[in-house]
Amino acid sequence: MKKRLLTAGVCLAATLLMAPAAQSADAITVAADACAGCHGTDGRSLGAMPAFHEKKPAELKQILREYKTGKREATIMDRIVKGYSDEQLDAMVDYYTAKK
Ligand code: HEC
Repeated sequence: MKKRLLTAGVCLAATLLMAPAAQSADAITVAADACAGCHGTDGRSLGAMPAFHEKKPAELKQILREYKTGKREATIMDRIVKGYSDEQLDAMVDYYTAKK
């Protein structure tokens, strides 16, 4: 029981410590790496997921906004983009498109 409380305390402390870093470059890298599972580390996905490495940053930002508003049809991206603010999505696009 004591150990459990300690674990919970450590988790809470870690969350509080990480909160101010939410907008840092590191946080964007972590968020963008979550996209890599499906789209590859540079948007050049192998397999069935669509690749986006040939698209321009402005176009990608537009696409992600359209997923968010429901203007663009999606099976999964509509749900994913809703977890991020427009600023975070823009930062992730900049991160990916700067990789080339
Ligand atoms: C679970 C797998 C998965 C993850 C994770 C994922 N995507 Fe996608 N992505 C897809 C699929 C599938 C599509 C095709 C649209 C659809 O069916 O939702 C897509 C489409 C896209 C497109 C449009 C490509 C085009 O040319 O039309 C972009 C841009 C994109 N994703 C960016 C991202 C970004 C940025 C992230 C991270 C925030 C991300 N994706 C995370 C599976 C994923």
